[in-house]
Amino acid sequence: MAQFLISGGVALHGTVAVSGAKNAALPMMAAALLADGPVRLENVPDLGDVRTMTLVLKGLGLEASRQADGALVIETVDPSPVRAACDLVGRMRAGFCVLGPLLARRGRAEVPLPGGCAIGERPIDLHVAGLAALGAEVRIDQGYVVARAGRLRGAEVRLLGPRGPTVTGTANVLSAAVLAEGETTITGAAAEPEIADLGRLLVAMGARIDGLGTPVIRVQGVRRLAGASHRIIPDRIEGATLLLAAAATQGEITVAGVVPQDLAAVLEKLSAAGCDVQVEGDRVTVAARDRLRPLEVAALPFPGVPSDVQAQVTAVLALAQGHSTVRDCVFPSRFAHVAELNRLGACIEHRDGAALITGVDRLTGAVVTATDLRASAALVLAGLAAAGQTVIRAIEHLDRGYERLDEKLRSLGARIKRRSSPTASRPG
Ligand code: EPZ
Repeated sequence: MAQFLISGGVALHGTVAVSGAKNAALPMMAAALLADGPVRLENVPDLGDVRTMTLVLKGLGLEASRQADGALVIETVDPSPVRAACDLVGRMRAGFCVLGPLLARRGRAEVPLPGGCAIGERPIDLHVAGLAALGAEVRIDQGYVVARAGRLRGAEVRLLGPRGPTVTGTANVLSAAVLAEGETTITGAAAEPEIADLGRLLVAMGARIDGLGTPVIRVQGVRRLAGASHRIIPDRIEGATLLLAAAATQGEITVAGVVPQDLAAVLEKLSAAGCDVQVEGDRVTVAARDRLRPLEVAALPFPGVPSDVQAQVTAVLALAQGHSTVRDCVFPSRFAHVAELNRLGACIEHRDGAALITGVDRLTGAVVTATDLRASAALVLAGLAAAGQTVIRAIEHLDRGYERLDEKLRSLGARIKRRSSPTASRPG
């Protein structure tokens, strides 16, 4: 088990480049199942979930290799497998993104039900209903979703769930509809930039798609898709996390190579809290000179504040003036980080799908434990702000979704280092 050791209380300053978007890369890697030729993806981040997806695809007869220039080239070498490995998809929910493309290209798909996780229940009813609407026969059999179809048929597909659209559900249905016969209209589709970017890869492969980035996506099915090259968009969640480090430490950080409008909701909140926000081309600078003002924040589907930034915002508001509220309308129980933040001296109550925060003057270092990917990032931000030393255990959660985050933070002046956990487990 790896750990981070952070000596906090240092204002961070400097410029850092963000990596490619994890949540764009993963469905794009799955979409390589559709192609009759090699798919070349540039700007793919080197992180745990990408390595896991590579193994999932290898088990489905695809080879993924990093080129000298860093690009990831994925090609089908054996088109016969239809069953995804249980342990891998159980480890990473995004592995479920192979369901749609595997079904569309090979006529059958057997994919393990994705595991639950610390952020709450992870249903798949919308994925199943969407593929059934395209003519697939879908059933659950011994923990696997088993789908089969001749050629899928275009249809009206409604993907709006009780808490908004489904991101990977849209990826699965879109990646199936591109090879279906006739027109598909997806209403209640996810408008997230990562799904729009997936759509741009599919178009580069020969798909015919309109409405990307909006709640209504129209697809004209085609018979086959070719290989293609595509550069993945920057990771807006990593960018927001790094900018929030400026707010947490009262420093000034510039992130380079971002798409500012993908960060608009977060930048608005930082500005409302009293930060100075500057946008110049693909660079965004956040400077925090005074203690933040309190905020009311609701995590929502795009273009709202992302659920994937909710924990990090909660951590930063722990030190703001007065009383703040952070609600997660996408994953109402995504608050495992609250107990750990309180160990650092925060004063947060988790009630009714929200974090009720009473700002404190200071946080104090302690031993805390990561529970999930974005909770880990929240603990890093709190540790950077806390006086004294913070030890964050189980940092493997963070390595799933951030590429060299400790190195990036060190380049901004953070005193953070990684170590393997000492054999004797620390008290507390
Ligand atoms: C994607 O997860 C992201 N993962 C998550 O990021 C992100 O938090 C989430 O979208 C919301 O933006 C990837 O893209 C790989 P959803 P996904 O289906 O697709 C309900 C991270 O940290 N729902 O959009 O699994 C569901 O319960 C990860 O990088 C149904 O009701 O999330 C939730 O309330 C964590 N039925 C809401 O929809 C379904 O069939 C949104 O879930 C599917 C979902």
